[in-house]
Amino acid sequence: MPATPPPQTYRVKSFGCQMNVYDGERMAELLGAQGLTAADEGAEADLVVLNTCHIREKAAEKVYSDIGRLRREDGSSPLIAVAGCVAQAEGEEIMARAPAVRMVVGPQAYHRLPEMLRAAQDGRRVTDTDMPAETKFAALPQRRRSGASAFLTVQEGCDKFCTYCVVPYTRGAETSRPFADLIAEAERLAEAGALEITLLGQNVNAWTGEDAKGRAIGLDGLIRALAALPALRRIRYTTSHPNDMTQGLIAAHAEVDKLMPFLHLPVQAGSDRVLKAMNRSHTAESYLRLLDRVRAVRPDIALSGDFIVGFPGETEAEFAETLALVEATGYAQAFSFKYSPRPGTPAATMDGQVAPEVMDERLQRLQAALQRSSLAFNQASVGGPCEGLVGGRGRREGQWPGKSPWLQSVHFANEPWGEARIGDLVRVTLVEAGPNSLHARLLAPVAA
Ligand code: SAH
Ligand code: SF4
Ligand code: F3S
Repeated sequence: MPATPPPQTYRVKSFGCQMNVYDGERMAELLGAQGLTAADEGAEADLVVLNTCHIREKAAEKVYSDIGRLRREDGSSPLIAVAGCVAQAEGEEIMARAPAVRMVVGPQAYHRLPEMLRAAQDGRRVTDTDMPAETKFAALPQRRRSGASAFLTVQEGCDKFCTYCVVPYTRGAETSRPFADLIAEAERLAEAGALEITLLGQNVNAWTGEDAKGRAIGLDGLIRALAALPALRRIRYTTSHPNDMTQGLIAAHAEVDKLMPFLHLPVQAGSDRVLKAMNRSHTAESYLRLLDRVRAVRPDIALSGDFIVGFPGETEAEFAETLALVEATGYAQAFSFKYSPRPGTPAATMDGQVAPEVMDERLQRLQAALQRSSLAFNQASVGGPCEGLVGGRGRREGQWPGKSPWLQSVHFANEPWGEARIGDLVRVTLVEAGPNSLHARLLAPVAA
């Protein structure tokens, strides 16, 4: 490949989970520290980072179509880097299949992007999918900018090896970032304007560390320490695993005001046979009892989950158990997916792969049940006042979007005062509910 002039502008496109969004932000900051600027909306960037997701088949296919779309009329392309979980899982294949790609960088190696960029400018094609012992975080520039709501990765990787899932292979083993680093990063984010921080991890509630006094703590200890930062008003965390839901974390939901009443706790399926085949190491019953314990201390908690339909061997009766679990739980929201066989995972070669049309039909029924559940949850919130964090200007004139404590999307008219601004906490009354959002009336901005 010929040498290329140094890129002036970049664009980072992130797909997949919130941790990938976080990584995308950190890569953008890293490129900014190298003197590059973000490309204007609509303009071509000199360097494009595709920060990819490997969780389901469609997500991986998307990478190749995105690379194709970056090609210019004369057949040339901007500098392309593929990052994220597809890079980790299929780095060599990408290099072989997509000659336009100049850099492939895994989720644990992206702090080395500047060196890779220099090599790429010299005309080389470079791959770095190491999982180095040294952490990337120490090599990243400090956080300087933040919106009102910020992500903070506290834990990475997964040791659970659910039989359908690529994450343990693409993200590596479970690791926790040190307490002091996290407090420092949270302080920076708060100084830069963050009112709300969402703590992220593939298994966030597996986080462990030592506090400033050297005492062993879990995620609840970290949450309590963050709640002591005056500028921070709201704390969330995601994604949790049922087996790492400690009594301390449950208690924090009762005791820490700033911890929002929301819990995303994926269950995947309602049949114990399927859960066992998935290697989930919990049963439907143990999951429901766990939710009972959370509700006992925080009755208004909004529950969210992830579901997979059509896992190999799933029968109609077993699927019906998933529907029954949804009825029993009363989810406020949820994500549901058709099972997607992932190369290298045990489930991909299991007997009894379910036909696509059966999966389609089950997904439709599950999503209808989940919609009814969300609508019921949202309707039950109508009438109550609550705080909303204003997220931006709405698509429709006069409609302002925000998030309730229960992570519901809330829309309100910024009338009659026009006082609310993006990033404000406002007091609203919820007046009308749909399955995906609520209308609200603005009462007043909340004093800082
Ligand atoms: N660590 C989290 C979730 C990570 S992946 C947890 O265990 O709960 C996010 C979601 O993607 C999973 O909860 C699961 O519902 C879905 N998912 C993962 N692998 C999948 C696959 N092969 N096919 C379909 N959905 C999958
Ligand atoms: Fe994947 Fe299971 Fe780990 Fe979640 S717990 S990331 S679903 S292997
Ligand atoms: Fe996707 Fe990797 Fe996240 S596979 S869901 S980007 S951990």
